[in-house]
Amino acid sequence: MTLILAIESSCDETAAAVCRDGKILSNIIATQSIHEQYGGVVPELASRAHLQNIVPVVDSALRTAGVLLEDIDAFAFTQAPGLIGALLVGAQFAKSLSLAFDKPLITVHHMQAHVLANLIAEKKPSFPFLCLTVSGGHTQIVLCQSPLQMKVIGETLDDAAGEAFDKSAKLMGLPYPGGPLIDKYAKDGDPFKFKFPEPQIPGLNFSFSGLKTSILYFLQQGTAKNPNFIEENRDDICASVQHRIVTILLNKLKKAAEETGVNNICIAGGVSANSGLREGFAELGKQLLWKTFIPPFEYCTDNAAMIAITGYYKYLNKDFADLSVSPSARAVMK
Ligand code: KG4
Ligand code: ZN
Repeated sequence: MTLILAIESSCDETAAAVCRDGKILSNIIATQSIHEQYGGVVPELASRAHLQNIVPVVDSALRTAGVLLEDIDAFAFTQAPGLIGALLVGAQFAKSLSLAFDKPLITVHHMQAHVLANLIAEKKPSFPFLCLTVSGGHTQIVLCQSPLQMKVIGETLDDAAGEAFDKSAKLMGLPYPGGPLIDKYAKDGDPFKFKFPEPQIPGLNFSFSGLKTSILYFLQQGTAKNPNFIEENRDDICASVQHRIVTILLNKLKKAAEETGVNNICIAGGVSANSGLREGFAELGKQLLWKTFIPPFEYCTDNAAMIAITGYYKYLNKDFADLSVSPSARAVMK
């Protein structure tokens, strides 16, 4: 029996989870609401909030799992990528526990963990599978051959899909993070009312910065003619923006499936909570006879359960880190 305690602190969620032999026993998340008033995550405030939250969050993860610190077989933490000050808090905490209890330390790449969140549920994809990972900081298509063997075959050249949602929402005057609000208003809107261009990016890469600019001009033109343009058309604008972001993502995923011949397809990351993406993905999957997978909601947005499952596979591989290891804001996925 192997018990892993995992810590995630790469951005604005302080999270801890315990897993036993790959089964999640607890998954605790403290969301930092302080950033809302600033319209985005403020790195220094995130670090300070992690420092405040980490002890109660880890304590709660252990209690919920019904285990003691001395029972833990290895300590896993998010090493990269993320806000460096935020990562340092989780890294230092995990390293101290590893030292104090003389148990192995395991580093986890946050993006690899988002992909492996698909291995938590009972219904798992078989290998090889493709995963579209869409979050506030990343947009990638990953070809996964085994739990620890993955290759990024497409990624964004500028903004991430979550940023495209959040920045579009900000242009409309919606509070941060605007992605879930766009999703909410889009439910009552017409996705074909307004047309936004699809960027012509070769291969499997993405670009969202042009879309953001076209939304900005569109909103400026609309409000120049009618100052209430955004309020009066809010639902249709949200539905149309969401439709375009979702079609950009799914068109590339379809291309990736054609090029690789893989038909086990997953989505992961915070944006996989988007209902338009979930529906579009399910429909496309049905049409193309894919086996489709989306992690349960609590494992889609940032969480430590995904760090724990990745830590578990690394534990099986005896892939342990030295206590001198330090986090990295940017790191390629190995
Ligand atoms: O994976 P995640 O929790 O954190 C990062 O690692 O970035 O993703 C957060 C992103 C934010 O941009 C947020 O607006 C977006 O996911 N998001 C959504 C929805 N829920 C979260 N975007 C669109 N629709 C949603 N329902
Ligand atoms: Zn994430």
